[in-house]
Amino acid sequence: MPTLLDKIDATRVPAHVAIIMDGNGRWAKERSMERSAGHVEGVNTVRLITEAASEAGVKYLTLYAFSTENWNRPQTEVDALMHLIVIAIERETPDLIKNNVRLDMIGDFSRMPAEALGRLRQCMADTAHCTGLTLVLALSYSARWEITEAVRQIALKAKNGELEPEDIDDAAVSSHLSTAGMPDPDLLIRTGGDKRVSNFLLWQIAYSEIYVTPTYWPDFDKEQFYGAIIEYQSRERRFGLTSEQLTK
Ligand code: FPP
Repeated sequence: MPTLLDKIDATRVPAHVAIIMDGNGRWAKERSMERSAGHVEGVNTVRLITEAASEAGVKYLTLYAFSTENWNRPQTEVDALMHLIVIAIERETPDLIKNNVRLDMIGDFSRMPAEALGRLRQCMADTAHCTGLTLVLALSYSARWEITEAVRQIALKAKNGELEPEDIDDAAVSSHLSTAGMPDPDLLIRTGGDKRVSNFLLWQIAYSEIYVTPTYWPDFDKEQFYGAIIEYQSRERRFGLTSEQLTK
């Protein structure tokens, strides 16, 4: 079967793709189902897109699985989501290892239920040796929380004389974020049609290409993911320069 994967220029694959997985609730509502049924279906998409990213040669795939603000959803939905994420990751760990995928997490772990955190940490340890795709789950994550934490750490170092204020530059800030050591996302995908960034990776997406699709997350598939990469490859990334400067 023809696949858009063959149309991707392998020399210009985005190293880091970040995704705001939105539309699970609306997907379920359109089918008169509970919102949690949308999240269950969304887990299948996580599996598919992890495979697709691996096959395309993406190095980092960051998924916004649970935001700081999501703690304010009805307790039953919060519990169901946490449970679903932990169960899915545990179930998929053998396949992650088989496919050489390393699991990582970013977020405010102090707010995570201890049991869920312990089980996710175990999955991270089990995949720590994998060298292919790194699958980063943003859990209990918000960019303002992350930047506030970085500022706090930097201020503490300055106070203790470990860092001079003149030495605080872009790289110093980046190295205090939870994504330290990862490349910034080249491509940010949002499903579900809303045109906003919802407190996700605000520092890191400074120069990311943004791709919004109306497709709800449970209906997003491999071909659509490859389509997003192909569109990304058709764009000219100028990083604040002019077109003429880029071709020199
Ligand atoms: C947004 O849809 C989606 C979420 C808040 C959760 C996304 C989580 C998953 C797909 C499960 C992740 C699982 C793993 C293993 C990482 P929404 O409920 O806000 O949808 P709506 O905008 O239509 O209401």
